[in-house]
Amino acid sequence: MRYREKAKLKLSILTVLAVLVAMTMSNTGAHADEIVCISCHGAMPGKYGEPVKLWRGSIHEENGIACNACHGGDPRDAANAMKKERGFLGAPTYNEVPGFCGRCHVGVLKDYLASRHGRALATGGPNCVVCHGNHHVVKASLELINEKSCSRCHSYDRAKLIKGAMQETEGIIVALDSRIEGYKQQGTDTDRLEKELFSLRNRFHSLFHNVDVTKVTAESATIQAELKKLATALNGLDEQRQRRKVGGAVAVAIALAAALLAHLMRKTYE
Ligand code: HEC
Ligand code: HEC
Ligand code: HEC
Ligand code: HEC
Ligand code: HEC
Repeated sequence: MRYREKAKLKLSILTVLAVLVAMTMSNTGAHADEIVCISCHGAMPGKYGEPVKLWRGSIHEENGIACNACHGGDPRDAANAMKKERGFLGAPTYNEVPGFCGRCHVGVLKDYLASRHGRALATGGPNCVVCHGNHHVVKASLELINEKSCSRCHSYDRAKLIKGAMQETEGIIVALDSRIEGYKQQGTDTDRLEKELFSLRNRFHSLFHNVDVTKVTAESATIQAELKKLATALNGLDEQRQRRKVGGAVAVAIALAAALLAHLMRKTYE
């Protein structure tokens, strides 16, 4: 009932809005193409138009994080879009970037600020943009740790140790994920296994930003031990299935033998 009333209310509001839009021809919707930041900047050459091209196809665009979500401002009023009174923040300086991105990525910001990178921000440490880029941010992966990127400021040796430990763990996670998926497709209840893997995966992916080789290797080992427990549970399922298969085969063999026996007995009596 409540839902239907809400839906009705929504519909009438939408109707009113549609009429208003038609009457004023103003941009009331929140669709990407109606965000004035995009239409105005998209038509500009050089460094003011570039962000729009880079942002398209980014993970932020995919998740509805447009210009104003990061930079503030009013996405519906071209004349006042970049007014301070409308919450416009402008472009952050190098040192402001972590706080700027960290408004949403709170956990990452905390780890980063406590890390050697965060503590060296003002003296040559990388900010978020150095590794992730500013407008073309894509899904994060261990590929971001590579010699070309990390050896801009120091040797790659320590970075390589972190990547090695993390790659090994990632490999185990991916393998377990596909085993669980296999069971799920056969109708096994994999809810608990999935949840456990999900939480271990999240814990694992929050490891990197502390860039502490000792911590990353130690925590990777702990996570691997937890993953081993999951693997053991899956091995248990494998054995059950094997037993069922053997059991099934035995049953078939017995049935065949019985049929043969019956056949032979009939022959003897005939
Ligand atoms: C009508 C055109 C227009 C609209 C609408 C517009 N901008 Fe701009 N924007 C500009 C121009 C021109 C500049 C460069 C000159 C300046 O800084 O004022 C600029 C500069 C910027 C800068 C760089 C500022 C700096 O400090 O270097 C950012 C960031 C920015 N705009 C974001 C936005 C966002 C976010 C919106 C939407 C809420 C938006 N713009 C809407 C025209 C526009
Ligand atoms: C994920 C957050 C984020 C989003 C979304 C975003 N920006 Fe930015 N933008 C930044 C950061 C960070 C900088 C600072 C540049 C740097 O450090 O490389 C910046 C810088 C800029 C600048 C200044 C460029 C220069 O060279 O001076 C402009 C203009 C700009 N952004 C416009 C936009 C427009 C238009 C959009 C929407 C298409 C947008 N941004 C979306 C984070 C964002
Ligand atoms: C207004 C909130 C907001 C701001 C500000 C913001 N992001 Fe995001 N970011 C998101 C959302 C939402 C996603 C997609 C959901 C997710 O993966 O967490 C995302 C995804 C990401 C991802 C991919 C995460 C993954 O799972 O692989 C990276 C990397 C990222 N953002 C980096 C940045 C950087 C760097 C900045 C600053 C330049 C920034 N973000 C600013 C909201 C924001
Ligand atoms: C913009 C320069 C810069 C880039 C790029 C950079 N770092 Fe760093 N890194 C630093 C600075 C500065 C320190 C702090 C050194 C200190 O505390 O004395 C540091 C420290 C570290 C440390 C801790 C010190 C140690 O030897 O154990 C690790 C690990 C590390 N970085 C890994 C990486 C990885 C991995 C990448 C690439 C994804 C990377 N760094 C990219 C500047 C950079
Ligand atoms: C030295 C390079 C470097 C810097 C600096 C850096 N990142 Fe990352 N970031 C990475 C790498 C590498 C990964 C992938 C880790 C993984 O796959 O587990 C990552 C992963 C992420 C993710 C995805 C995390 C998840 O849980 O899946 C987000 C979001 C993110 N970074 C945001 C940020 C923000 C915000 C900042 C600044 C406060 C920042 N990063 C600074 C290299 C960096």
